Amino acid sequence: MRTFIALTLLIGTGIFTALFFGFDLKEASTTLEHDDEQTGIRDETIITFSHVVAEDTPKGRAARRFASLVEERTDGEIKVEIYSNASLYNDQNEYEALKNGQIQMIAPATSKLTERFPRWQVLDLPYAFPTYEAIQEAYEGTIGETLLKEVEQDQMKGLTFWYNGYKQMTHTNQPLLQTTDFERAHFRVMPSPVLKSQFESLGASASELPFNKTYTNLEVDFVNGQENTLSNIYSKKLYEKQNHLTVSNHGYLGYVVLMNEAFYESLSEEHQVIIEQALTETTDWIRRHSIEMNDAHLRAIKRDNLMDVHYLPNRQKQAWQQRFETVYNEYELMIGHHLMREVKRIQNEYN
Ligand code: SIN
Repeated sequence: MRTFIALTLLIGTGIFTALFFGFDLKEASTTLEHDDEQTGIRDETIITFSHVVAEDTPKGRAARRFASLVEERTDGEIKVEIYSNASLYNDQNEYEALKNGQIQMIAPATSKLTERFPRWQVLDLPYAFPTYEAIQEAYEGTIGETLLKEVEQDQMKGLTFWYNGYKQMTHTNQPLLQTTDFERAHFRVMPSPVLKSQFESLGASASELPFNKTYTNLEVDFVNGQENTLSNIYSKKLYEKQNHLTVSNHGYLGYVVLMNEAFYESLSEEHQVIIEQALTETTDWIRRHSIEMNDAHLRAIKRDNLMDVHYLPNRQKQAWQQRFETVYNEYELMIGHHLMREVKRIQNEYN
């Protein structure tokens, strides 16, 4: 009986203490207010940013840099969710997804816009821009301004151009140096008629394939060659299916950063300024760092003996360029005299 009374007293004291001292009701309600799971308590805007390349590439790293600048400067009011490696949309459907507002931001290779806007092919012309400064002038000058205006027709906001690098040629089993080396070769290209014509002018054929299908198409031998930047070749392990790399710098691969216009307009002016500022800084960063990233990937390819590396001699380069004259003539009308004149002006300035 004594034990029963002692136990009852103990439990009673416990309940009494918990009720009056143990539960800090103020603390409990504070915790609830900061519960991010509760909808409506915190106003957070999500920017879904979809792209097709690996994380450790110029675009992959620039996207992350942009995201952290925006998140930090909006104090977490805007969150940028990045989907890399075509894990959400690939390069065949990301433009449509942006247009429909399913995502808010993409940065496709400029070649991917050429089907919708043929004048964008100006950026694909072989040997169009001889130096990095020439590329910058193309993106920031008349060419860039003219092209960015075109995307407004699709209710897109063309924000800026991002840099990757010069494209190089790879092939399964032979070096690509002489124009005759291209005969009977079949290349994967991005969807741009100029790029197809570039290979046809060298006597090869080409098929347009999405970036994330390049490796498998090389694997099954549907194509036996491709052109890309060193960072894309390395990060997608294309060297596992390609034995020869020709450092030719015959074209430049860069990106256009696009946002759904209705979404952009729905943002407060303060947030728009933060986004634009973060983009300006990121563009400057990727312009400077993309060169070193591609160089580092070339060093890794050589160090680990991943492919036989050949440098295109000047004599062969001139032979390629002679073939490419037909491409310039074929597309002059489609691209327009205004932009073609600007390409020639830039070439004269930087050659
Ligand atoms: C990219 O860099 O976004 C992809 C380029 C390609 O399709 O080759």
